[in-house]
Amino acid sequence: MNKKFSIKRRVSLLTATIMISGSLYTISTIAPAYAASTDVKTMYTYDFNPTDQATEQSLFTSASASQVAWQRGSGIGAGDDYVLKGTHIGTDYTAANNAIHLALPQSLPAGYVYKIKVSFYVPSADNQGKSTITGPGVVLNGAYAVNQYKLPANPGTIAMDTWKTVDINTPVMTENLTSVDFRFVTNNAANHPDVWYIDHIEISQIGDPQPVPTWNLNIPSLADTYKSSFLFGNVIEPTQLDSKTTNMYKSYYNVTTPENAMKPLSISSAKGVYNYSGADSIIAWAQENGIQVHGHTLVWHDQSPNWLNKNTDGTPLTRSEARQNLQDYISNVAGHFKGKVISWDVVNEALDGGSLPITDWKAVARKSPWYMAYANGADTTKGESGSDFIYDAFVFARQADPNATLYYNDYNETDAWKREAMGQMVEDINAKWLTDSRNTDPSRKLIEGVGMQSHYNTAGPDPSQVEASIQRFIQAGVKISVSELDAGYRSNDGQASTTLTQEQQVTQANYYAHLFEIYKAYADHIQRVTIWGKADSQSWRNTSSPVLFDTMYAPKQDYYAVLDPSGYLVKQGLAPRSLYDLSVSTPDTNSLIAGLHANIMVNAAAADLGNYKVVAYLAKNGVKCSDEFQIVNGTAKISIPHAPAAGQYSVVVDAFKGSTLHASQAVPLTIIDNNFKVAVNGTNLNYTLDDIGNAVFTPNAKQLDALLNIDSQTVSIDLSDDRNVTGIKFIVPAERFKNVDKTLEFATADGTSKIKTKAIWNNSGKIRLITISAGEVIITNM
Ligand code: XIL
Repeated sequence: MNKKFSIKRRVSLLTATIMISGSLYTISTIAPAYAASTDVKTMYTYDFNPTDQATEQSLFTSASASQVAWQRGSGIGAGDDYVLKGTHIGTDYTAANNAIHLALPQSLPAGYVYKIKVSFYVPSADNQGKSTITGPGVVLNGAYAVNQYKLPANPGTIAMDTWKTVDINTPVMTENLTSVDFRFVTNNAANHPDVWYIDHIEISQIGDPQPVPTWNLNIPSLADTYKSSFLFGNVIEPTQLDSKTTNMYKSYYNVTTPENAMKPLSISSAKGVYNYSGADSIIAWAQENGIQVHGHTLVWHDQSPNWLNKNTDGTPLTRSEARQNLQDYISNVAGHFKGKVISWDVVNEALDGGSLPITDWKAVARKSPWYMAYANGADTTKGESGSDFIYDAFVFARQADPNATLYYNDYNETDAWKREAMGQMVEDINAKWLTDSRNTDPSRKLIEGVGMQSHYNTAGPDPSQVEASIQRFIQAGVKISVSELDAGYRSNDGQASTTLTQEQQVTQANYYAHLFEIYKAYADHIQRVTIWGKADSQSWRNTSSPVLFDTMYAPKQDYYAVLDPSGYLVKQGLAPRSLYDLSVSTPDTNSLIAGLHANIMVNAAAADLGNYKVVAYLAKNGVKCSDEFQIVNGTAKISIPHAPAAGQYSVVVDAFKGSTLHASQAVPLTIIDNNFKVAVNGTNLNYTLDDIGNAVFTPNAKQLDALLNIDSQTVSIDLSDDRNVTGIKFIVPAERFKNVDKTLEFATADGTSKIKTKAIWNNSGKIRLITISAGEVIITNM
């Protein structure tokens, strides 16, 4: 009975990443700095003389709660007889609705600093009963939500019956200056005049133009690119709601996180005091522009007022006082924004200083002011601890805004201990919620999401750690948001840099590409990706150039890497993620035997393998030692007529696009020595394998003599292993068989057998028919 070779395989995957330099995107260059000049060039003046009135009337208009009039009177003006008079009408004292609006005849170009001078006067005779009149000042381009455009920053007050000159410099305008509002900074009747004058308006341009960072609105939208995967956002401040930022935002993003405006310190400076003006301006802006808002953050140890959890002397409040404040604060704030935010970072950064193994997440809770207050009066016999504020916060947030998705948000979330602590915390709190009588919807978790802040840099964490954390949070059963992503450039020796070389930009972009390949792969679990900074110049980590746009707002390499991460890596000659998963196996493969024929079946799998030319071959130390066989539909057969000498080899699968190698995987494979030896005087006979699997020996004349004319010679055939060939053939010239009535002695591991020219030889259950006929000695397995 013929037997086949069986070939052992050992499977363990090796990854080989081949780096080949590829083409690079063009890098934007930063415009040169201009030498500062302080020349002042007057652009417009308005004195409200009768001769100018006709022109001025088309430029100056009143707002809804005021009137304007060109007024004359002896000495009424600031050094002359003419003013523009403002009169409040109705009951609305909102500053914007009482402002006098100047539409410039022609807008003044961006890139300059402008000087605006204007004199205000409040006549006491027309303002009986008013208290101090606050804040004369100007607002540029009607942008009441943009702090930089509301000047001066501290407008102060104005004494009655005294001219006060407001004299301010604008920031370098990033957009054209089109209008100026003259207004009093108050919405109160008591502090807003009913009658006032303005005079001697002077608008000048200062110095030379400066390079204006400009958003490119013709590049693909990040939000659109990822619209079927997750929301794509960035941060915003109330000072940044100008039209250029707005147009950029609408073009690139679909969700925003207030960078600071919704933090406790921004909202509540003192107990019972809630100031929503900044955050509300963001909400209004977002609603107007179709941008969703993520709330950040309700409970944090940082940027939070003391009243929440501390006494005035800094000692912690009691547990019950802190709990009451927590409830008041969250119900007020989350209640205020109910229906206006899609989600909240309910608790931020509550874990700290742990290490593996994590057995109790509460043991690694940060000893924050909230923790200390909650510990102050905790009944430890009931299992209470300082960390209980976390559970309470989520419950209060759920009650205040049941439709918002509730997140726990933290940084260093890729540290092994922290991912585990976060995972356990989420699992523990959600399990507890299931037993809570306030839970009206058991199908819904209390903590529904984990925010991975993702403040990274190119030196770490390794993207594999990001993936491991994503997997851990998925295991905890929650959604994920990449909530504050910025990945600065950092060399391995820790150097950060504000200006990146092209090579550094590419390094950073590759890092971003690897991250976004992961985010794409887990998109089903990711609700939102938010970049923490619109441009490097605006980032809180600006020293490491961490975000997608540079200081001139030009898209960096990072931006292109984010748009098409795999494509970007391919351009750099790096393997895209789809091929990281290239897995190779060699089913039915035992160890190959040197010299024998072998077929190795190879299976290869990867996400988009069909898009690559994939080949398989046998290699030793990276050197190919078989033909290449094309993998079709994930399989190939490597066919080797004669396996090479014994040793460690590998079955290699390479995936190419064109001539570029994108992935390479290897499975180790052993070729074992062929112990199936025929030795004559200690010299092995070489053999080949014929079509039907016979080991074919071709002894030379001397060997043949020894083999067939044995007197004292020993022919050893080691039959001790279980490899079977169909038969053994000695190819012997016919004339040598004239006299073959000889005994062959085969020394085997099991003993020695002597056979005649024709014999059936049995050794340990193995039967071989030895035939010596003309020209051949044949030993056949039976
Ligand atoms: C940062 C802001 O970006 C800065 O403007 C501010 O000065 C400090 O806070 N983790 C957070 C964010 O949750 O709120 C922080 O934002 C960055 C770290």
